[in-house]
Amino acid sequence: MGVINVIDRSGAAHALEAVEGWRVMEILRDHGVGMDGLCGGACDCATCHVVVDEDWVSRLPEPRTEELDKLDELPVLEAGSRLSCQIIWSEEIDGLSLTLPQEV
Ligand code: FES
Repeated sequence: MGVINVIDRSGAAHALEAVEGWRVMEILRDHGVGMDGLCGGACDCATCHVVVDEDWVSRLPEPRTEELDKLDELPVLEAGSRLSCQIIWSEEIDGLSLTLPQEV
C-alpha cells in the first residue's frame, strides 16, 4: 500500500491509499474525489484527465500515442496533463502528486 496525493477541484488536499496494479483513475474514482473515468480506462473519454505535479512528470512512464491523441482533444492542456487511466500505480510512484483540473 502507498499514497497518491491529490488536490481536488475545490482545492482540498487528500492523501489516498493506493493499490499496486490499479489504474490511478480507479483509485481516484473509488475514493470519491470527483473522478468520473467514464470509459472505464479504455483511453476513449479523457474524463480522467489529471495534472501531474512538475516533480513527477519525468518519473512516470511516457504516454503512449493513443493517450497523447486523446489529450489533444481537450480544450486546455498543461505541462503535466495525463490520462490517469493510463498510469498504473506501483510502489515506484509511491507519493505521486497530482491535481484534478477545473472542468471547462
Ligand atoms: S477513463 Fe476514459 S480515457 Fe481514461
